[in-house]
Amino acid sequence: MKISINKAKKTLLGNRRRGYTLPTNNKLYPAQWNWDSGFIALGYSYFNLNFALKEINTLLDGQWKDGMVPHILFHNTKTNYYPNYTAWNCGNKIHSSGITQPPILATILKEILNKNEINKTQLLNIKKIIKKINKFHEWFIQFRDPKKTGLVSILHPWESGYDNSPLWDDPMNKVKIEKNIKYKRADNKVVNPDFRPLDIDYDRYVTIKNNLRKLKYNPKKVYKSSFFNVVDVGFNSIFLKANKDLVTLLDRFGLNKKKIENYIKATEKNFLKLYDKKRKTFFSKDIKNKKKIFIPSITNYFLLFADLNNDKINKILIQNLKKHNLKEKYFFSSIKSNHKSFEEKRYWRGPVWINCNWFIYKGLKNKDRLFSNKIRNKTIQILEKKGFFEYFSCKNGKPMGAKNFSWSAALYLDLKLNKN
Ligand code: DGY
Repeated sequence: MKISINKAKKTLLGNRRRGYTLPTNNKLYPAQWNWDSGFIALGYSYFNLNFALKEINTLLDGQWKDGMVPHILFHNTKTNYYPNYTAWNCGNKIHSSGITQPPILATILKEILNKNEINKTQLLNIKKIIKKINKFHEWFIQFRDPKKTGLVSILHPWESGYDNSPLWDDPMNKVKIEKNIKYKRADNKVVNPDFRPLDIDYDRYVTIKNNLRKLKYNPKKVYKSSFFNVVDVGFNSIFLKANKDLVTLLDRFGLNKKKIENYIKATEKNFLKLYDKKRKTFFSKDIKNKKKIFIPSITNYFLLFADLNNDKINKILIQNLKKHNLKEKYFFSSIKSNHKSFEEKRYWRGPVWINCNWFIYKGLKNKDRLFSNKIRNKTIQILEKKGFFEYFSCKNGKPMGAKNFSWSAALYLDLKLNKN
C-alpha cells in the first residue's frame, strides 16, 4: 500500500467530527479519547494549527471541576460503544467516562509551540489551555499521590491506555467479578475477537468501573477503595516528562511553576526506588496487593522519554532495550516475545504500537542518535508498507485492529516532518 503525507492528512480529516477527531472511522471507538486527541493534535499541527488547538480545547471542555480530564468524552450519545455514557453516568458539560488517561497534553503543546508561529489570538487561547493542563496535573498530584511519593497511581487498566497488558494480569486476577454482571460488549463484533481483550478481562473492567461509579467518582474515596491501584513505570514516565514540559510552558507564560518543579524533584528521586539492581530493570508496583510487577513491557522504556537525570540508568535501559526485540523483524513488540505472557495478535499483549515507538524514538534522540534514527525509519517503513493500522505483528508486520487509525497517521506526520 502506498502511503504518503497526503494520505495521513486525509486520514485525520476523515476521522474529524465537530471540533474533535475519532481514533478511527469504524464503529470501534465512536468518541473522543484523551491521549489519542493529544497525538492527533500534534498531527494537525503540521497542516492546520487551528484544528490542533481545537482538538485540545474540545478535550479540555470536558475537564471536570476538580481538574480531571476524562479518558473518553461522549459527544455523540447514539452509539453501540460499551461502556457508553449511561454506563458511566458522569461528566461535566459533556458526558464522559469517570477515569483518566496518560497526560500527554503538556508535551504535545510544547512540541507544537516549538515549531509553529503563533498569532496573538492563538497565544491567548494557549495560555488558557496551559492553565487547564496545570489544573489537571495538580489533580494528579493531589488525588493520585495522596502520600506524596512523587509517583501517581492509576485506578483502572483503561487509565494506562494499554488496557490488557500482562502488566495487569496479577492485580486483575485478584479482582472478584461482580455477581450477575450484565453488559454487552460491541468491540469484538467490530474487529476480530482474537485481537481484542478476553471476556474475563471485560468482566473485570466493568466490575472496577461499577465500583468507581458506586463511589460517585469521589477522588479521595476511589483512591482508597478502587479494586485496582497500580503505580506504573510507563504512566509515571509520561507524567514526569509532561511535568518537565509543563514547567517550560508555565515559565514562558509567566505562570507559577513552583509546585510542579517540586513534584519533579520528588519523582526523579523516588523513581529510583522502582529499580531492581539485581535484575537491572524497573518494576511497577501493585499498591492494592503490595506486590512488585516484573513484566518485560515496552512501556517500561518510556523512562527514556522522561529523561531521567541519571546517565548510568539511561545507559542500562538502552542496553536492555536493544535486547527487547532481538529475534523479531518488526519492532517494538509491546511485550518481549520470549515472555510467557506474549501473544502475537492480542491488543496490548504483543503487537507493535506506533505511539510506543514514538515515545522511545523521542526519548533516545538525545542519548543514542543512531538507534533513535533506526527506530524512526523502521516505524515509517511499517506504516508506508502496511497502512495506518492500529497495531502490527512483530513477526511479519501483519496489520491488525482498526484501519485508518488516527494516531498512526498523526505520528507518521511527526516522524516524517519534524526537523528537530
Ligand atoms: C477500548 O474501548 O478498548 C478502549 O481502549 C478503552 O479505553
